Amino acid sequence: MNIHIFDHQHELDQAAASLIIDTVRGTAQPVLGLATGSTPTGIYQALLHQFKSGAVSFKHATTFNLDEYVGLPPEHDQSYAYYMNTRFFDHIDIAREQVHLPDGMADDLEAECRQYDRMLAAAPVDLQLLGIGHNGHIGFNEPAQALRSGTHVVQLQEETLQANARFFERSADVPQRAITMGIGSILRAKSILLVVRGADKAAIVREALTGPITTSCPASLLQTHAAVTVLLDRAAGKEL
Ligand code: GLP
Repeated sequence: MNIHIFDHQHELDQAAASLIIDTVRGTAQPVLGLATGSTPTGIYQALLHQFKSGAVSFKHATTFNLDEYVGLPPEHDQSYAYYMNTRFFDHIDIAREQVHLPDGMADDLEAECRQYDRMLAAAPVDLQLLGIGHNGHIGFNEPAQALRSGTHVVQLQEETLQANARFFERSADVPQRAITMGIGSILRAKSILLVVRGADKAAIVREALTGPITTSCPASLLQTHAAVTVLLDRAAGKEL
């Protein structure tokens, strides 16, 4: 694993954006795996800045987001589709049909998962951007005795529901379920970019990167991948 620690937020965001841009520029038909959450917002801003300055085009890119809440339409301001559209896709030159998020409104969620896996199999991810949850989840792959390889519907754990409650008016509004890419899909990416910020993530960063490989910390499976880059701020890296 390639671990870099940054003193300043903008440097971390810039470094992440540069790695993404290198992939986009260096690949004829780049496929990006994208993530949401509070961590990558500055990365999308940095990418937009580079796009507006003409440094990169996403015309030939395809994207797959990691996850989406079940039951939130794309117009809902807490859906991950809304997050991605307003922060990134609406402002770049990507073809809309090349943008993919799991559809949390699908009537048949199981069929939606199989369809997402088929699309992922046809367009293997070149670079997967990841954040990490306080319990070690990646995407919405929550700690469990066994993890799923493919895209699936997941019941969110209490800790995750609480962490997400800050984004909703009432905690009762927080969706209880999500669709997420599975661990197998994440690990099939040719390269992985894990970005973590904040002292509240320092312990889970240590556990994930240096602890045993275990399904009770899904991010620890990243230790098995040959091409992982980890970008941390000083606070998130303080226990390494
Ligand atoms: C969310 C997302 C993850 C994200 C994580 C951390 O629930 N499903 O993809 O990496 O939790 O989010 P944040 O960056 O806001 O701490």
